[in-house]
Amino acid sequence: MIKKPVTDFDARRVLVSPSLLAADFADLASEIKRVEAAGADLLHLDIMDGHFVPNLTMGPPVIAAIRKHSILTFDTHLMITNPLKYVKPFSAAGADHITFHLESDDNPDETIRAIRAEGCSVGISIKPATPASAVVNYLDRIDLVLVMTVEPGFGGQSFMADMIPKVAEIRALAGKLNPKLHVEVDGGIDGETVKRIVPAGANMLVAGTAVFRAPDGAQAAVERLHNAQKLLPVH
Ligand code: DX5
Ligand code: ZN
Repeated sequence: MIKKPVTDFDARRVLVSPSLLAADFADLASEIKRVEAAGADLLHLDIMDGHFVPNLTMGPPVIAAIRKHSILTFDTHLMITNPLKYVKPFSAAGADHITFHLESDDNPDETIRAIRAEGCSVGISIKPATPASAVVNYLDRIDLVLVMTVEPGFGGQSFMADMIPKVAEIRALAGKLNPKLHVEVDGGIDGETVKRIVPAGANMLVAGTAVFRAPDGAQAAVERLHNAQKLLPVH
């Protein structure tokens, strides 16, 4: 299967990755078509194991089933205790990109290598309590840092404004160590909070509720997020 990793995208562009967690799970294929038609750049898949976070979502069989219905890059966010064990199954199911949590139990370098070996791009995510400094030593060999702007586990939570300086710090570090790095944010991102986080250097925006449940439709919601392009600092 040919992968479409995040390295295919320009990190100077604002990219929208709707989180499938907010979709109607009874109708995933048409929900995905709906956000594709709305102009989504990627599709964000939240994988939870009921252990790393207190919630359960979906596993490789669901990813394999929806793969047939989408051409979007599958931006896979593993909120699981043992990511290393599941890199192969998620890649085989159709993941193009895999992000794991630095706070998980597995060795980060081994996990990075395993993801690369599958031909996927690699991301590291950090929870709100983990500082930017924790990712510095990995920036030269990953493609994306995902800064959680809520505690991972559930959609529909409020954006944590105190994560704004962390995003700025990571974008500044990337300027020196890896200018092509995507800085992704996840949790409570909508047409308003986007105006505060993109100026700090976030270029990849995960949005569940704001896109799938937008009262004026997904297309208008995606457009509001893309409109933040003019606020992205030159990097
Ligand atoms: C939370 C997930 C998010 C979540 C975002 O643990 O990682 O991707 O779906 O949902 P919203 O955009 O509704 O905050
Ligand atoms: Zn997520």
